[in-house]
Amino acid sequence: MDRIVVQGGRPLSGTIPIAGAKNACLPLMPATLLTEEPLTLTNVPRLSDIVTMGRLLESLGVEVSPMRDGKVMALSSHALTGHLADYEIVRQMRASNLVLGPLLARAGHAVVSLPGGCAIGARPMDIHVTALEAMGAKIELRDGYLHAAAPGGLKGAEIELRFPSVGATENTLMAAALAKGTTVIRNAAREPEIRDLADCLIKMGADIEGAGTPEIVISGVDRLHGATHAVLPDRIELGTYMLAPAIAGGSVELIGGRLDLLGAFCEKLDAAEIDVVPTENGLRVTRRNGRVAAVDVVTEVFPGFPTDLQAQMMALMCTADGVSVLEERIFENRFMHAPELVRMGAQIEVHGGVATVTGVERLKGAPVMATDLRASVSLILAGLAAEGETVVHRVYHLDRGYERVEEKLGACGAQIERVSE
Ligand code: EPZ
Repeated sequence: MDRIVVQGGRPLSGTIPIAGAKNACLPLMPATLLTEEPLTLTNVPRLSDIVTMGRLLESLGVEVSPMRDGKVMALSSHALTGHLADYEIVRQMRASNLVLGPLLARAGHAVVSLPGGCAIGARPMDIHVTALEAMGAKIELRDGYLHAAAPGGLKGAEIELRFPSVGATENTLMAAALAKGTTVIRNAAREPEIRDLADCLIKMGADIEGAGTPEIVISGVDRLHGATHAVLPDRIELGTYMLAPAIAGGSVELIGGRLDLLGAFCEKLDAAEIDVVPTENGLRVTRRNGRVAAVDVVTEVFPGFPTDLQAQMMALMCTADGVSVLEERIFENRFMHAPELVRMGAQIEVHGGVATVTGVERLKGAPVMATDLRASVSLILAGLAAEGETVVHRVYHLDRGYERVEEKLGACGAQIERVSE
């Protein structure tokens, strides 16, 4: 297992390229199951989660051909050989459950392992199941697997999600594309990745209106054809690297960054006295003063403050001038970075889903442990600002969602290196 070693205290300057979005690519890849023709994705991020999804699709008979050192991916599912998403793969990556909708639509059956709990929460699938059952699927939980069947094909339905689940919206959207009749998804998730998936499905011949709004209307078609689609830029990688100059000082340009992907996140940066200025190649982020201002954060569904940036924002608030309160409303256990930040001298009190952070002048480098994807990168951000050396262990979590962090930050002047343990 590798570890990342950071010597803190160096302000950043330079540019960071933003890669394609992990959370757009992970539903786009299973969309290949909806057609026998080839689907080509460009701007694909080089991440271990993408490799995992590729392995899962190959286990179903899909041909997955990464090209151009992984930035382009050709997928072809002209001959499916399986319909089982095995526990071994699903437990590593919950997004494996995104084969459920397309497999049901294409093959009329699917056996998908429940993901089981993960570090940040129980991760149930009741919203996915309720939506697909409304479309005529028969779904039974047996031996930890969802056994789903729609022998006569899926039919359009009026569906109201009890919560705007991103994955449930994506599974339902893909299933509805080939259902008989019209499907209306109400209280649909509005994350930009939903819009990106819909844009790709429309290129493949789907009839979809309203993606990105709370109500999506899908008129099922008989078949979909192949397409080529560029993966949306990653708004969570973008937000993460916007916080790097904020915490370390200096000014960095994020190539490919777009304000429209960030929702309420940018308002919080402004309140924290961090300047964000659009440039012709992306966004430039500069810390206005010697220390950021403390701001309160509540995580919400898009366009609210993203839960996937909460850990990173907490790292910044650890060095802010004042007290900030961060409330995590999306997941039940997403503060595991807090005790690790406390080891670096942060002052954080956690009560249930609320963390109160009292900013300190300086964090102190320490050996810390990554527990989940976003927690691990928040520790690296803290290390950039800390006095001395920070060693982040178990960085396999990091590689799930961030391409070459040490290279991207190192190119901006950070003293950071990856060491194989
Ligand atoms: C997606 O997960 C993202 N993953 C997550 O990013 C992100 O944190 C999350 O959306 C929220 O924005 C991908 O897109 C691959 P949800 P997803 O269904 O779809 C509960 C990262 O770091 N829920 O919107 O699984 C659930 O337990 C990852 O990149 C049910 O109760 O999220 C959670 O509390 C982490 N029943 C809340 O809803 C269900 O059937 C949000 O879950 C489904 C979800």
